[in-house]
Amino acid sequence: MLFRQFFDRESSTYTYLLAERMGGEALIIDPVIEQMPLYLQQIAELDLKLVMAVDTHIHADHVTALGRLRESTACATAMGEQSGADCVSLSFRDGERLRADGVELQAMYTPGHTDDSYSFLLPSAAGDRVFTGDTLLIRATGRTDFQNGDAGDQYDSIFGRLLTLPEDTLVYPAHDYNGRTVSTIGEEQRFNPRLQVRNRAEYIEMMNGLKLDNPRLMDVAVPANRACGLARAA
Ligand SMILES: [Fe+2]
Repeated sequence: MLFRQFFDRESSTYTYLLAERMGGEALIIDPVIEQMPLYLQQIAELDLKLVMAVDTHIHADHVTALGRLRESTACATAMGEQSGADCVSLSFRDGERLRADGVELQAMYTPGHTDDSYSFLLPSAAGDRVFTGDTLLIRATGRTDFQNGDAGDQYDSIFGRLLTLPEDTLVYPAHDYNGRTVSTIGEEQRFNPRLQVRNRAEYIEMMNGLKLDNPRLMDVAVPANRACGLARAA
């Protein structure tokens, strides 16, 4: 399988390009508009046909490349049905599969960071991977204080769903601010400081006690992303 992890330094966002083989179909997760040339170059180099671009949720810290990718490659664009984004060509719900050749992502509805947050499970002979968006980060979890975020929902998504995956499942988040690129479910269970709580109430109290500044681009990014990144100049 072809697996490429891109990093946008400005927003510390990870983007993932997946394909079964050179010359085949590809799928991209959480593309950033400024990094479009990099994705298109890699797609051309590997002779891939981009068939789908998907966001794990409506991002508040960068503008999505979904709309621009659709314009330049005619790929499908996808977000969860809770996103309210009518610009996408496909909206999915919990349990649905997103496919590019033999690459098959299983959508897991994992709300909490936002009410439209999904994770994607990718079973693979080389080891299962889960793309956790901003639900579960490496040694952290996504904030829950705007975009209909809810700390209790996030606890349920993490403890009730993500942590029930096998321990050796590789965890690929949508961001990292400290230079880490990948973790595992077992590692996060043991070493993620936010997951060392005794119960749901304690998790909610901890998350509601975080005093965080709003993302710099939030007022621009959220409305732009509801339009797949195409309403940026409006
Ligand atoms: Fe986010």
